[in-house]
Amino acid sequence: MVDNIKIEDLNRFNELGTLINPNFTKLFNLENILNSTYDYIIGYYDNNDLIAFLHITKSYETIDIVNIVTDSKYRNKGIASVLIDHLLTMFNDTKTIMLEVNEHNNPAINLYKKHNFVEMYRRKKYYGNDDALIMKRDV
Ligand SMILES: CC(C)(COP(=O)(O)OP(=O)(O)OC[C@H]1O[C@@H](n2cnc3c(N)ncnc32)[C@H](O)[C@@H]1OP(=O)(O)O)[C@@H](O)C(=O)NCCC(=O)NCCS
Repeated sequence: MVDNIKIEDLNRFNELGTLINPNFTKLFNLENILNSTYDYIIGYYDNNDLIAFLHITKSYETIDIVNIVTDSKYRNKGIASVLIDHLLTMFNDTKTIMLEVNEHNNPAINLYKKHNFVEMYRRKKYYGNDDALIMKRDV
């Protein structure tokens, strides 16, 4: 089931986020995000347990994907795809979706390509020795 995430999901949000970045809890404060008018987090729930989320920011007609993560046990079941498809139904004024991804993160790059994102340019050595790919989808 897909739903907006809630402050009650804080522990699972932090657990899932730490899979992306060990400093996740220092960088992302769920309470602040929920109070922001630019941020939205869509959760995917299995029996009320948060098992994946998609965090975006929206500014006018542009959406930026901040983070997307699926619990390791639930990967390759189409859950991230459900979240991206749901995002496309949320706003009817969106023209562009942008994101950045490590050049070696093949699962994520494949996910984005499957959803019609294309590489725009690279930020050299953005992640230590690795480049960031900036990808875009026109809606
Ligand atoms: C990237 C991630 C969110 C994908 O989540 P998921 O729920 O497993 O994705 P889905 O099952 O919806 O997969 C959709 C598509 O993604 C691609 N994909 C997913 N996992 C993949 C893998 N291990 N290897 C290659 N491609 C993969 C495929 O194109 C897949 O489509 P297909 O099943 O038709 O082949 C997940 O691997 C993850 O949480 N990774 C760690 C966090 C991360 O790196 N996030 C992105 C940067 S913030």
